[in-house]
This record gives sequence, C-alpha cells and structure tokens, in this order.
Amino acid sequence: MLVCVVLLLVTLCTQGGNGEDAQTPGHVSVVIVGGTGDLAKKYLWQGFFQLYVNHVSSGNTFSFYGGGLTPADKAKPVFFEILKAVNCPKDVSQERCALLKEQFLRLSEYQQLKTIEEYQGLSKHIEQQLQQEGLTEAGRLFYLSVPAFAYADIAEKINSSCRPTSGAWLRVVLEKPFGHDFRSAQVLASQLGSSLKDEEMYRIDHYLGKQVVAKILPFRIENKKFLDPIWNKHHIERVEIVLKETLDVKGRIPFYDQYGVIRDVLQNHLTEVMTLLTMRLPMNLSSSEEVLQNKLRIFSSILPIGKNQAVIGQYQEYTTQVQQELNKTKDHISIIPTFAAVLAHIDEAQFEGVPILLISGKKLDERVGYARIVFKNDIFCLQNHNSVHCKPKQIVFYFGHGSLQYPAILVSKNLFKPVSKDSEWKEVTEHKDVSIQGLPISDYYVQIPTEQREAYSELISYIFAGRKDSFISTENLLASWGMWTPLLSSIASSFPRIYPGGADNGDLLNVRLIGKEISYNSEVVIINNDRMGGTSANAFQVMQGQFRGADMVSAWAEELVERLAADLQGAAEKAVLESGVFHLALSGGATPLALFHRLALHHFSFPWRDTHVWMVDERCVPVTEFESNFQNLHDHLLQHVRIPYHNIHPMPVQLNERLCVEEDGGRLLYEKEIRKLVNGSSFHFVLLGVGYDSHTASLFPGSKTDKHGESLVALTESPVKPHQRMSLTFSAINRAHEVALLVMGKGKHELITQLSRVKDNPEKWPVTGVKPSDGRLVWYLDYDALLG
Ligand code: BG6
Repeated sequence: MLVCVVLLLVTLCTQGGNGEDAQTPGHVSVVIVGGTGDLAKKYLWQGFFQLYVNHVSSGNTFSFYGGGLTPADKAKPVFFEILKAVNCPKDVSQERCALLKEQFLRLSEYQQLKTIEEYQGLSKHIEQQLQQEGLTEAGRLFYLSVPAFAYADIAEKINSSCRPTSGAWLRVVLEKPFGHDFRSAQVLASQLGSSLKDEEMYRIDHYLGKQVVAKILPFRIENKKFLDPIWNKHHIERVEIVLKETLDVKGRIPFYDQYGVIRDVLQNHLTEVMTLLTMRLPMNLSSSEEVLQNKLRIFSSILPIGKNQAVIGQYQEYTTQVQQELNKTKDHISIIPTFAAVLAHIDEAQFEGVPILLISGKKLDERVGYARIVFKNDIFCLQNHNSVHCKPKQIVFYFGHGSLQYPAILVSKNLFKPVSKDSEWKEVTEHKDVSIQGLPISDYYVQIPTEQREAYSELISYIFAGRKDSFISTENLLASWGMWTPLLSSIASSFPRIYPGGADNGDLLNVRLIGKEISYNSEVVIINNDRMGGTSANAFQVMQGQFRGADMVSAWAEELVERLAADLQGAAEKAVLESGVFHLALSGGATPLALFHRLALHHFSFPWRDTHVWMVDERCVPVTEFESNFQNLHDHLLQHVRIPYHNIHPMPVQLNERLCVEEDGGRLLYEKEIRKLVNGSSFHFVLLGVGYDSHTASLFPGSKTDKHGESLVALTESPVKPHQRMSLTFSAINRAHEVALLVMGKGKHELITQLSRVKDNPEKWPVTGVKPSDGRLVWYLDYDALLG
C-alpha cells in the first residue's frame, strides 16, 4: 500500500543522475544494522535518502529499516528524529522535497535486530510486504554499521534467515576495521566467507567515495596522451599521499589505542590512493573485475617496507588521554603512533626508485588531504627563474579542506592543460588568492566537481549500482595487510617521537629521504624520561637459553628477526662453502613475512644463486590464490631476490587440473625431487612455525603421523579451511641439519607456556615431534610470545 503511494509520485519526480541502475528494477529493502548509531546519523540515512530521491522514478520501490539492539519503543523516537533531519539535494524544490521526505519517513521503520528470531521476523515481514503488494524483489541491502567483532555473527544470521527470494541480490556492506593485521584479516575474511559470497560483500573505504579519489583513474585515462610519456621513473621525482588532521583522538581511545595511525589511515585510505595512482590503467574502466585485478597486481610489486622506511610520532597529550579513557594509572604509557611517514617503492620498471611517501597524523597544523605527483624539472634556467618553465611541475589531487576548502585536481601550467570529458567536472579559472604547495593557484589549471557530494552518498549509489570496483575485495584487503603487517610488527616496540601538536610542531616532524630510507630531519628527540618507564637498554638485548631441552634465542620481534636472518645467512654460507649448495625449506603463514622482508632488504650478499628453496607445506589451492603459501613466498621474498628459477621448488599440489589427489602422485613427485637433489634428503635449514593448536608444517593434532613412516612428503588434513594440505613429514624435518622454530606475538604466549610444560606427544602437540636426529633445533621466540 505504502509502495503504491510511492509509485504515484513517479510523475512528480525526476531522476537524479549519479548512479547506474541496479540490475533489474523491483523492490529493494535497505536495512541499516546500527541504524541509530553515529555513522548512520551523520551520513548513512542522508545517503539513503539521496538514493531514494535519485531512484524513486526508476521503476524501483523501496523500504528502509533501521535495526539495532535497542528495543523498538526506546529506539523509534531517536530513529525518526534522525530521519527527519535529512536534507534534500539542492536541485529539488522545497515542495517536492517535503513530499519526498514524508514519503521516505513512511517507508521507514525501526526493528530490533538481536536474535535470530528477530532476523527471521524481518525476513518474513519483507516477504509479506512483497506478496501483499504484488512486488518483485530486486534485492536486499544490509549495511552493518556496528563494531567489527559483530560482523561474523550478523552475517551468519543474514545468511541463514534473511536471504532474498531467488533471482534477487543480497549486498552486505561493512565498515573498517577489517582486522588488525594479515592474520586477523584472514580469519575475519574466512568467517565472513562462510556466510557470504565475495560478490555479496561491500567493504567500504570512504576515501573511494571522495570525488577526487574516484576521479583519479578517469583523469589518468582522459589525459592519457599527456601522461603516458611522463608517468614513469624518468619524470616523476616523488609521489606524496598525505592526510593531515588537526583533531586528536579523544573519545576514540579504546579503539585508537589498539590501532594507531598506520592501521587507521595508511593501511586503507592512503594505500587505496597509492594503488589508483600507480596501477596499470584498465582497458575498460567500467569493468570492476579488471580494475580490481589491476589494483591487486600493484600490491605484489611493492617492495617490502622495513623499519627504516618509516618514522612514527605521538602527540604529547596522547598518553594522558589513554590513562583517562582506559582507566590506567599514571605510569601507564602507550607507544601507539598518532603520526607516521612511510616510504614505499614499487618494484616495476615504470616506477623503479620513485619514492612514494604516505604520511598522516593527528594534531598537526592543518586539516588537509592530497596526493601530489612532483615531476622532475629537466629545464635548466640560466636566468629569469620566475618564468613558468622554471617552476616546479606537479599534479595535485586535492581531497578537500586546507587552503582551498574544496576538492580539486590541479595541474601545473607548465605540464599540460588537462581535458575533461566528464560533465560532472568543470574547469575553473576564477579563484580566491591561495597557494597550493607553495605555488599561487594561478600557476595551475584547476578542475573541480560541478556539484560537491558526500563520500557516503556516492558509495551508497555505487552499492546500489553494484559497482564493486569502489570497494575492497578480500584479495585486495589481504594484499594490503600483507604490505603493512611486517612493518607493523617491526615497529611494534619502537618509541614514537613525541610532538607538542598544532603549529608548535614546527620542524619536528620534517622527514628526509636518504636512498631508500626515511628519517626525521632533526636529531632532536624530545624524550620524556618517565615515558621510557622500566625499559632499559637491556630489554632490547638478544637473550639465549633453553626451551624444551633445545636452544632458544629470544628478543623483541625486530631484533629476533634480524638474528634469525643472520643465522640463516651464516648457515647458507657454510653450506655453500662445504658443498656448493644450500637447501632451505620454508614455511607459509604470516609469521615468516618479517623474516622474508629482512632477507630481501638487508641481505644482499646472501648466496641466492646457490640456494634451493623448498616448501615445508602447502595448501591445496591453485598457486595463484592468495591462500597459497607459494604465492606468499613469491610475493614477499622470491621476486625480490636474484634466485635462479630452477632452484625454486613449489609443491605440486595441482596436477591434472585437480588439487591434491593421491592418484596424481604429486606427493611422490616432490619426494622424488628431494631425494634426487638434496644430499641424504637432509635439508640444510628448515624454517618452521607453530599454529595456535601447536601444529607445525601441516601436521595437525590428532593426525597419525606415525603412518607416514619413512615418507618425506604427505597429504594431510587441516581442521581449518582449506582443509587439504601437502606437508613435509617429521621424517623429512628431523633429518635436517638445522631446524628453526619461529614463534612471535602475544597471541602465542599461552601456547608457549603450555609447551614449556608438556611432554613430547606429537599426536596431541605436533610441534613436540620436531627432534632433529643429527641436527640442531633452535627456538626463536620473541618477547611477546615468551613473556606475554
Ligand atoms: C577515518 C579514520 O577512517 O578517516 C579517522 O578512522 C580519520 O581517524 C578519517 O580522521 C579521515 O577521514 P576524512 O574523510 O575526514 O579525511
């Protein structure tokens, strides 16, 4: 009935033009879970109202639900207050606006969504409405505006009780944080993956909804003829992607103190901008798949980011705010950074050696965001330095705020005059007198959006249009965490430089690039001695001892990784000297990534030419998938070192176009290769990790490893997906000359404590089956794992 009223409105309405239509018109149910929360209040309902206004005459009908944990009688008044506050777009007359708003309110209702029965009730309600009004369902859009820990549970409820009728789409929208590091993102992705298909998930990065950010690829395409010759290492001096903020994080500390600026802003917003600037241009911009694939490819070319490619800072008041908001005593300190400047490089011929700076911080002197491409000026000016040719050349994608106050794309006049075939953008020639990056605005050609639109409204229209390229795919997310996780672990115990905040920061946060490294320009470090607490220099020393009757090395993560890398190089040099070759077997997972990066960035004299790399274990997935251990090893180590291709030995998990089928003989093939190439089948060095359930390699609790006998390679079953694995057996591992067991992170402390007490029982605690018969076992435990 309500919907019929809407249809009557059709003649009154004109369609707004900023989105493609959803596939098949029909009835769309929008559900915002967390519908009375901050984000919903500030942006989401406004965005959905805009969507409604734009599409009310497109043949679609809508109903809107605000959902939440609060009972309906309490939440309803708040909910309707929020809805009443939405604004109409400028081009809608007051009269029509009032009508549309009234209609929007009538189509909206609040429902408590807590239990599975309540989700079932919602679904029933939608179905009844469809039936009563004879509507065809187009789709259901769930916007989860709730903390990330609730995602898996809600996704499960949606999957089991709220899927739309067949033929209609389901879109579930999620907000960051999507995990905390590579591993936790992987866990969250696989939890969500068991309820939702990848194409049903829309992970938001609101920067992709900013008009200037969304314009980067179209701009590069429209101006291809000017950019092609200069978009490379010969012409680009550096790229800067910067978000400066003036606010602090007061009120958000419980969240922020777990994340910090790198996880909060660099891993997502700034990384997304970086990929848009550096990825290969898609042949077809409207192919989401192509855009996402090209984006993904750039991640695998990013050189590992080590500790010397980052500087971090923290505004002075932060620690006091933490003490207050987290109810901590005065001696509690936090070393979470609120400022970071990171230097990245892309290992591709086009951008080789071009510094890419990603910078963001709270409590800085101004609020501004931009991506700036600074070009080399190859003109030597003998006199008249003010001539236009002598000036810096740059392109600035200006996200907003700052001196300009609105989004814009600025191109130095001595570069080229950009074209725009897009009616939503226009060139402006009249501006207030401001300077942008040290140059008067009159030195630039300036393009701005014809109408400024809010990022969330843009993204909501993209979700409705099913435009997946403006969202973060699972692969993309994991690739980004793969880029940031090793850096985050290597700086986990570093002290940030303390800065006073605002204009007082002066030059304190200026950075300088030296070769491939970045450092603060000034040496003066304000250290408040209290902040160092009990951390004496000793705490940074490497400690040696015994663990489970074997040797143990322990240190903070970074020193530990340095030590292991040095030991590994020592073992390699010794083996090459003695036998001309070094056989190294490496494990998968996230723990060894920091080691891989250390090897790639610091061990230039590692004898890679004489090293053979073998796999400790592999997941039975195609080698091109992100879950493949080999893919990980390739992206984080092999592609960055000069190792001959024929020295690399991936496990043959895919044969005859199928995965890990015993009859295909992949296991035997690998075993044969080991027996043929490795003297006595004794690897020189085996790097292992330990899982939370104490599995090592792919040897899991409960599996009868005795039955592997003398075999070197086995097909095994993991309790978590992907279940099928190929793994070296204890027999292969225990023949090695040296075995290193690397365990890092607080999360493993519990396990290490248990392992320190239990007797050998490989069936229950597989790692206790690692006992090299003639070789040496060394446990490398970081202080977090050892001391908790
Ligand atoms: C959010 C971060 O994602 O982005 C905030 O959590 C940050 O800390 C904000 O302030 C910046 O967004 P914008 O749109 O204001 O630049």
